Amino acid sequence: MSRKIIIDTDPGQDDAVAILLALASPELEVLALTAVAGNVPLALTERNARQIVQLSGHQTPVYAGCDAPLKRKLVTAEYVHGRSGLDGIPLPDPTHPLQAEHAVDYLIDTLRREPSGSITLCPLGPLTNIATAFQRAPDIIPRVAEIVLMGGAYFEVGNVTPAAEFNIYVDPEAADIVFKSGVPLVVMPLDVTHKALTSREWVEEMRALGTPVGQAVASWTDFFERFDTAKYGSQGAPLHDPCVIAYLLEPALFSGRHVNVEIETGSELTLGMTVADWWRVTGREPNAMFMGGVDRDGFYRLLTERLARL
Ligand code: BDR
Ligand code: CA
Repeated sequence: MSRKIIIDTDPGQDDAVAILLALASPELEVLALTAVAGNVPLALTERNARQIVQLSGHQTPVYAGCDAPLKRKLVTAEYVHGRSGLDGIPLPDPTHPLQAEHAVDYLIDTLRREPSGSITLCPLGPLTNIATAFQRAPDIIPRVAEIVLMGGAYFEVGNVTPAAEFNIYVDPEAADIVFKSGVPLVVMPLDVTHKALTSREWVEEMRALGTPVGQAVASWTDFFERFDTAKYGSQGAPLHDPCVIAYLLEPALFSGRHVNVEIETGSELTLGMTVADWWRVTGREPNAMFMGGVDRDGFYRLLTERLARL
C-alpha cells in the first residue's frame, strides 16, 4: 500500500526535484501540492508548482495557501532561485489548473476526512500553511501521521543569516507552532543537505536521460549550483528538499538523533535558529528526529533511478 503525502512547497529548483521524485515513486500517493510564499511570492510558487506537475505528466491538484508569514514581512530568495523561482530552461505556461479552495482549508478538510494517522505532511518551505491549519483547527494535529520537513541547521548553523536556515527564518513563529505541536517530526537540516551535493557527472546523467524531466533537472541544477559554488566554494549544489522524499522512500540513507529542537523567535541576532539539543544537555523532551548524515551516493542513485521513470 502506498503512503499518502501532501507536499507543502515554495518551488524553488530543489523543491521541483523533490516533487518529481515523489511523483515518480509508486510507494507514495501524492494527494496534493500546497503552495506557500517563500523562495518567491505565492503567485509564482503556485504557478511553478503547476508547471512542475505538468512537466511530470501527472494530474496532482495544486492549492495556493498563505502569501505571507504569520507575523512578519515575507523574505524571498531570488538571489538563489532566480526571478521566477524556477530559473533554468523555460517551461510552457501552466494549463494545469489551480484549485479554488485555499490550501489551509484543503489541509484541514483532508486531515478531517481521511483516516486518522494516514497522512504524512512534507513541508519544503516556510511552515506558514501548516501552522495556520494547526492554529485554526487543532483537532487535526493528532490526525497527522508524521511531518518530514526540510529546515534548520545545527552544525552548519545558518544560510540566510549566520544563525538561521531560510525556511525556518522566514516564518519562525510558524516553525515554533509546528515544533511544539507534538506531531512526530523528522527534520532534514543543512547538516544533511550540504552533504547531498550534486556532481557534474550526475547533472550530465540527467541531461543524457534525453527526457523533458532530465533536461529540466539538469538546467535547474546548473542554475542553482552557481550560487552555492560561489558562496561555499563547493563542487555542486545541495539538493535540500529531495532529502525529505528520499527519506520516505529509503530511510536507511539517513542517520540522526531523536532530540529536542526549539525555535528562536525572540532574538534579532539569532532569529529562526533551530536550537537542537544534539548532545542532550538540557533534559528537554525530544520532539524531533534531527538528521545529521546521508549516504550521498545512495541518495543520487535513488534520484537517477526514479527520475528516469518520468
Ligand atoms: C531551503 O530554502 C530554499 O531556498 C530551498 O528550497 C530549501 O527549501 C534551504 O535553506
Ligand atoms: Ca523549498
